[in-house]
Amino acid sequence: GLVNTKELFKKAVDGGYAIPAYNFNNLEQLQAIIQACVETKSPVILQVSSGARKYANATLLRNMARGAVEYAEELGYKIPVVLHLDHGDTFELCKDCIDNGFSSVMIDGSHHSYEENIALTKKVVEYAHAHGVTVEGELGVLAGVEDDVVAEHSTYTKPSEVEDFVNRTGVDSLAISIGTSHGAHKFTPAQCTKNADGVLIPPPLKFEILEEIEKRIPGFPIVLHGASSVPMKYVDEINANGGSLAAAVGIPEEQLRKAAKSAVCKINIDSDGRLAMTAAVRKVFIEKPGEFDPRKFLGPARDELKKLYMHKNVEVLGSAQQA
Ligand code: G3H
Ligand code: 13P
Ligand code: NA
Ligand code: ZN
Repeated sequence: GLVNTKELFKKAVDGGYAIPAYNFNNLEQLQAIIQACVETKSPVILQVSSGARKYANATLLRNMARGAVEYAEELGYKIPVVLHLDHGDTFELCKDCIDNGFSSVMIDGSHHSYEENIALTKKVVEYAHAHGVTVEGELGVLAGVEDDVVAEHSTYTKPSEVEDFVNRTGVDSLAISIGTSHGAHKFTPAQCTKNADGVLIPPPLKFEILEEIEKRIPGFPIVLHGASSVPMKYVDEINANGGSLAAAVGIPEEQLRKAAKSAVCKINIDSDGRLAMTAAVRKVFIEKPGEFDPRKFLGPARDELKKLYMHKNVEVLGSAQQA
């Protein structure tokens, strides 16, 4: 069956790697995640956002995730699978997921005041722990896709708050803000420098903040959201096949590799998968305009996604061979 994150995070922190948290909302994404994680023998966190639940139906997604455990075994290797609510924003949503078979939830109270965040997170933790479910909280706000110029420094996680927060809430892991953000446009060209090949190089993550956090709560599981790298090959392929993605910049893999070796034990990736699928679908549509069987474009999208996830597990997160 599904497992919570407790043991997985302990092993990941001790082992100096991070467990992939991949978002899904359809069949092909789930197939790609499970195939990639079985083949690389990696534990995996299946993430469902509230938007994904609305889009795909909560009952269907829950049963797909349960089926995925069986599917993984059929593929020939048993891997730990977590079903996790991504960015839960209310107690009611978290409770609904806990009541319906999720093994882990995130309560994202980071947009509230510090004390309100604590109160909300603690309430979720009490209910979740009574049901064997682990909880991820968040301190600090990730920059939005659009508000990149607004007070970017004031929203980083404050190391002075983390110990108090984890003690008072009882959370099992903590998402932090050290310069990542959601989506495919994490930095504006103005925030980047250009290398010799004209490639935009974003400002580095605030590793000094991460180190300070690790000093305050040694060995405590840390989560990195907004960790897509926005591979240039997908952006180029999308744009070469009729798409229009200007100035898409992500987090360089080298920095994620470094983060994975620290107490960061869960790395969230959604946008890269979206780019991989879109690139593959656009390619089929341009190269085979007569094709109208969804399997003929969703199949290649699934295969590209699987390749991407295998690469992440093996080359970036270090989660391969850890299951
Ligand atoms: O953090 C956001 C995830 O990428 C999920 O995005 O709300 O569009 O499903 P979504
Ligand atoms: P990306 O948009 O960088 O893939 O981040 C995903 C995420 O943090 C989901 O919670
Ligand atoms: Na780690
Ligand atoms: Zn996120």
